Amino acid sequence: MHFLTIDDFEVDGKTILVRTDLNSGLDENKEPKDNIRIKYHSGTIKELSDKGAKVVVMTHQGRVNSRDFICLEKHAKLLENHTEKDVKYIDDIFGSYAKNTIKSMKKGDIVLLENVRFSAEETSVDKDSHLSHMVKQLAPILDYYVNDSFAANHRNHVSLVGFPQVLPSFAGRILQKELDVLTKVLDNPKRPSVLCLGGAKVDDSIKVIEQMLFNNSTDRVLTTGLVAMVFLAANGDYIGNATHKVLVEKKADLEIKYAKKLLKKYRDKIIMPVDFAVEVEGRRVEIPFSALPSDYPLLDIGQDTIELYKNIIHNAATVLCNGPAGVFEKEGFETGTVELFRAMEKSKAFSVLGGGDSAIAAERLGMLDKIDHVSTGGGAFILFISGKNLPAVDALINSAKKYGSLITRVTNDT
Ligand code: 3PG
Repeated sequence: MHFLTIDDFEVDGKTILVRTDLNSGLDENKEPKDNIRIKYHSGTIKELSDKGAKVVVMTHQGRVNSRDFICLEKHAKLLENHTEKDVKYIDDIFGSYAKNTIKSMKKGDIVLLENVRFSAEETSVDKDSHLSHMVKQLAPILDYYVNDSFAANHRNHVSLVGFPQVLPSFAGRILQKELDVLTKVLDNPKRPSVLCLGGAKVDDSIKVIEQMLFNNSTDRVLTTGLVAMVFLAANGDYIGNATHKVLVEKKADLEIKYAKKLLKKYRDKIIMPVDFAVEVEGRRVEIPFSALPSDYPLLDIGQDTIELYKNIIHNAATVLCNGPAGVFEKEGFETGTVELFRAMEKSKAFSVLGGGDSAIAAERLGMLDKIDHVSTGGGAFILFISGKNLPAVDALINSAKKYGSLITRVTNDT
């Protein structure tokens, strides 16, 4: 995978558009909560600013009609806290105000443009993105484009795939690190390599399991959360109406069918829970596998499963984990998630945690710094580890082919 990076270009004095993903959860006042995306992107922004670039930051926030579809004024404050530099918020994307501000920037300045999804073009142009108004207005006043938004790289949106077609473009530090780490753990993991998958997104998870087993990227798959329920159902184990209802609501029939095929082929590699936690009169009660079917929803893995999985993680050399092991937001049912994260932290294995709910859980538990790599990506992470190409990464690779000869510094090949 050949794309260019910050190391390939002399950025001093250059005007650079940095597409980040500062898409954040909101607090009760509808303000963005500080989070790893803002923290990590600040590193790339600060580095470019320290090197004398004029840094124009772009991001989306929320989706049209959703509660979190807000402007970015408060995001600028959070970026200021992390970069310890002034970040000027511009309530414009590519109009005269934005363009004049960009033209008047000095070396080291940082501006944050308005939520790029406020422009309907961002998500609606599905081909020739480079002919969009956004790209046509901004590209002539920019020297380079930096894609740092791994978490949005599965989107075919204008700000992600349009600019690399008309500007020399390179990966920011986050994207570079994500691709580097994830490619290594997929293509050449240290053995034994363990995949631990939970959470509620069963369709994506089944694809990941299929791909990683097929490619021999993993030696063991530890199933938790709803993913485990799909495999139990595929195995012919009747889990009980309460949990089965959730699978029906999720329309998981197809996944159960796939899971059956996977069990047929890789039964010795796919591990299912041996006990569970349910809620009885507001309390956590553990039940063994033999007590299934249960009238109560299965909300977490039980202690025997935790010990079994911890032991496998302890002896692993690589652990890739995505999705909480249970309903971790519910008091008493965070145990499985916490214990498995702790096992990752204690294990000598190189540990990678998927973004989205897993990163939120790790952040809430104060464990972010204890995992070797916490991905900023939710959907993008899952798609990438299930072997799919990310359109924005493809755009960057194509840009490297087109503009590689313009490299202005000694390159580190990636
Ligand atoms: C995410 O939060 O996963 C990314 O920011 C992508 O957001 P989207 O799913 O709204 O495109």
